[in-house]
Amino acid sequence: MNIVVGITGGIAAYKAVQVVRELVLAGHDVHVVATEAALRFVGAPTLEAISRNPLGTDLYEGVADVRHVALGQAADLIVVAPATADFLAKLAGGQAGDLLGNTVLASRAPLVVAPAMHTEMWQNAATQANIATLRERGVITVGPAVGQLTGADSGPGRMSEPSDIVRVALAAVATKDLEGLRVLVTAGGTREPLDPVRFIGNRSSGRQGVALAEAARDRGAEVTLIAAHLEIDPPHGIDLVRVETAAELAAAVADSAADADVVVMAAAVADYRPEAVADGKLKKESLGTAVTVRLVQNPDILRSLTSGELTPTRAAGQRVIGFAAETEPDDDRFLAIARAKAERKGVDYLVLNRVGWHEGFGTPGNEVIVLDRAGSIVGEAAGDKVSVAHRILDLLV
Ligand code: CTP
Repeated sequence: MNIVVGITGGIAAYKAVQVVRELVLAGHDVHVVATEAALRFVGAPTLEAISRNPLGTDLYEGVADVRHVALGQAADLIVVAPATADFLAKLAGGQAGDLLGNTVLASRAPLVVAPAMHTEMWQNAATQANIATLRERGVITVGPAVGQLTGADSGPGRMSEPSDIVRVALAAVATKDLEGLRVLVTAGGTREPLDPVRFIGNRSSGRQGVALAEAARDRGAEVTLIAAHLEIDPPHGIDLVRVETAAELAAAVADSAADADVVVMAAAVADYRPEAVADGKLKKESLGTAVTVRLVQNPDILRSLTSGELTPTRAAGQRVIGFAAETEPDDDRFLAIARAKAERKGVDYLVLNRVGWHEGFGTPGNEVIVLDRAGSIVGEAAGDKVSVAHRILDLLV
């Protein structure tokens, strides 16, 4: 997507760098348009390096390319962060005295603004009237948040966190093709305790599952995320159920799966758990120099869902997506293992990726192949985990 990030002159401009970075990492082509005042707070080289595009500030640069309107016309989305009281006033008045004003006025793209100013300025009747006008015209506002401001004061006026701004902005342009659907996503790695302080776990960070939950939410679905151990914060705007072990995960899936239209089993579930869990911390003195831990098998949650054992009923037309992370280096054998797994698990789709000591875990990117139940390749996706999530949902739709 072609995104213009407008930056106006406030202290929070330094945080706009993070907004630009997150949008670039999510795979978007980001063009920064900063006001002269913004450049007193954050440097042009930083913005150009992070956005990977030339910075726009001057209305009279690139006149031959009609740049003052081209940027706005080409944009799929415009995000202004921070948006000062002065900028909001100009926008409400339809002023186009600088490149950012021109870009915004010359665009039909959704516009998201993140106000940032001192509390008195935010609460001033003029600012409130401008914000009301802008909202009425369809401008989407994020924040301001309540918190510590630049001086010693605190209150409403602080710019929302960059990740919240990015989330609201991307949700504004997402197609709502999952509206009215209930989507259940499991994510993260289960942990099977040995004693109160130790567990057997796995390297899943939960990033791909969380990205799927976020993408489904942005496309209008009602999302429940059953989260085993995650290395990242869970998203907002979803129902969150925290679990630790495979047994807890199974119970949570059994509770939520019956009326879900889509179940995405992205969690890395332990196939085995220690047969005995010690009440107190296991001690070397009593264990000796070598230890044997007997493991017993956990139920296969996915298999028991698709076979109908897990829930008494299943929503009509429920679609189930399973995941398979395999280390097999040979492409043919890699696919053969996955095809057998798709059939064995009875899933509608199996999302397949390669993992190893140095790939597949904890990274922002992913590379997947999607198989249908018959084992045919129905799609492939590579990129950051949010775009991979959208691609998987595209196939589902
Ligand atoms: N899964 C599950 N319950 C388990 C194990 C896995 O529901 N006890 C789900 C995972 O969430 C994933 C899919 O099954 O969607 C495949 O997981 P994977 O670990 O690759 O499958 P296994 O059956 O464990 O196969 P294997 O150990 O032979 O690779």
